[in-house]
Amino acid sequence: MEPEKISHFDPSGNIVLTDAQATLSLGITLGQNLTPGTVILLEGDLGSGKTTLVQGIGQGLGITESIVSPTFTLINEYTQGRIPLYHLDLYRLEPSEVVALNLETYWEGVEVIPGIVAIEWPERMSYKPDSYMRVLLTYGEDGTRQAQITSR
Ligand SMILES: Nc1ncnc2c1ncn2[C@@H]1O[C@H](COP(=O)(O)OP(=O)(O)O)[C@@H](O)[C@H]1O
Ligand SMILES: [Mg+2]
Repeated sequence: MEPEKISHFDPSGNIVLTDAQATLSLGITLGQNLTPGTVILLEGDLGSGKTTLVQGIGQGLGITESIVSPTFTLINEYTQGRIPLYHLDLYRLEPSEVVALNLETYWEGVEVIPGIVAIEWPERMSYKPDSYMRVLLTYGEDGTRQAQITSR
């Protein structure tokens, strides 16, 4: 699927996502362009569109398998696309439990094939990779969402 043009910014420079398709399209663009080893930290309230964005990333990578929320499985791995997608949801964990997962294995890419690591609820992490992309999703007044992307 071709991504729609992402042309809509609000006065603060946030990307306006008018509907779920816009969130998907942003994800598709990311999935088509990101390089192996990229960690994306997805922040935002329940229902703000984090999983939807990852579904778009999967489409952009060429994954046809359906991407479902890893709220209960913690980690879902998809190896069918251009590069692997590792999708994590830490919502149900305590920071101490997150440490025990040794998530750095995913972004070091030594024991696993380097891919995109998309993490929902990164607030649960007491340590972060040296560099990452952060996407903050917030609710607009009218049921839309906004995305703010920063990286370090
Ligand atoms: N930009 C948007 N505008 C309106 N609804 C959206 C938007 N993006 C996603 N949604 C919808 O919001 C709901 C929750 O999305 P989801 O991705 O599961 O959120 P999260 O993973 O952050 O809890 C879904 O029904 C999804 O289709
Ligand atoms: Mg989710």
